[in-house]
Amino acid sequence: MARILTGIQSSGRPHLGNILGAIKPAIDLSKQPDNESFLFIADLHSLTTIKDGPMRREFTRAVAATWLAFGLDTEKNTFWRQSRVAEHTELAWHLSCFTPFAMLNNATSFKEKSNRSASAVNAGLFVYPVLQAADILLYDAEIIPVGKDQRQHIEMTRDIASTFNHQYEDEVFVLPEPRIDDRLMTIPGIDGAKMSKSYNNYIDIFLPENELWKVIKKIKSDSTPLEEPKNPDADITFQLYSLLASDEQIATMRGLYEGGNYGYGMAKKAFYELIVEQFADERERFNYYMTHHEALEAELQAGEAKARIVAGKTIARVREKLGFS
Ligand code: ADP
Ligand code: TRP
Repeated sequence: MARILTGIQSSGRPHLGNILGAIKPAIDLSKQPDNESFLFIADLHSLTTIKDGPMRREFTRAVAATWLAFGLDTEKNTFWRQSRVAEHTELAWHLSCFTPFAMLNNATSFKEKSNRSASAVNAGLFVYPVLQAADILLYDAEIIPVGKDQRQHIEMTRDIASTFNHQYEDEVFVLPEPRIDDRLMTIPGIDGAKMSKSYNNYIDIFLPENELWKVIKKIKSDSTPLEEPKNPDADITFQLYSLLASDEQIATMRGLYEGGNYGYGMAKKAFYELIVEQFADERERFNYYMTHHEALEAELQAGEAKARIVAGKTIARVREKLGFS
């Protein structure tokens, strides 16, 4: 049995890039019979950037509703909000006293963020990797599926865990391995750059149909006239369409581009229709959870009770070693 763990910050509504790049692959992994997955919403991490309470509540619901809409089995796996399991913050404090200041000071993600805007740098951002280490070590997780940018955070987790184990000459913590799938492509946004909340170029597949169409219409395209043949491989709409379409649909679309008399607007319409059709069930389930807060809350609270049992055992082990019990 492999224990898998990953978290997604509640810093926005999940977009197509998050879904295809992180949420769906993690759900697929959780379905393998030999795996047990721990999937959580890193709402405490979102506090490093978002201060607005109602906004965080809404984003937290949206992230939770997305996991459920895409079919996460909450019976087999454990699914919770980080902020509701107090052991995360307790262990983060313990671990911070085993974390060299210089290691945090050298973290690339911290350096990048502080270079971008010195005024936005708070101490939470600095100790972000320590809270992440606590998230992982609390559950004895073995495999951490993450994007490339998170590799250093997992290495820091391993460093902190082995310092601790060494100090107490005991295997208190399991050393986790990152699982970085290089085959997973970076999904482009409507402007062709990496799709990201921060670039405002994302596709929110849960939008009402008319709003979704407005976003899809904005996908960048060149000015080749309608009659002329077009190069599908140079077009963002074609790239996005290919992520969702079947091989047969892709071949047909390629033919239309190359044949001429097929406009980018028509391709956008086809992509829009594919989203609405392919994600019909997910859109319905998402809306259900976003409007039935009690159903969402029940799923999360059941998961939080399960998470607390595992986290409670680890923290008891740690408190004992540290002389707090
Ligand atoms: P964002 O860039 O929108 O802020 P995050 O950094 O919060 O996204 O990423 C959450 C998860 O989604 C990570 O696992 C990340 O690797 C994945 N992800 C984000 N954007 C993309 C994308 N454009 N293509 C593929 N995966 C993505
Ligand atoms: N830092 C991660 C991100 O921004 C989110 C995260 C928080 C996480 N805690 C984690 C990921 C623990 C994996 C394991 O994507």
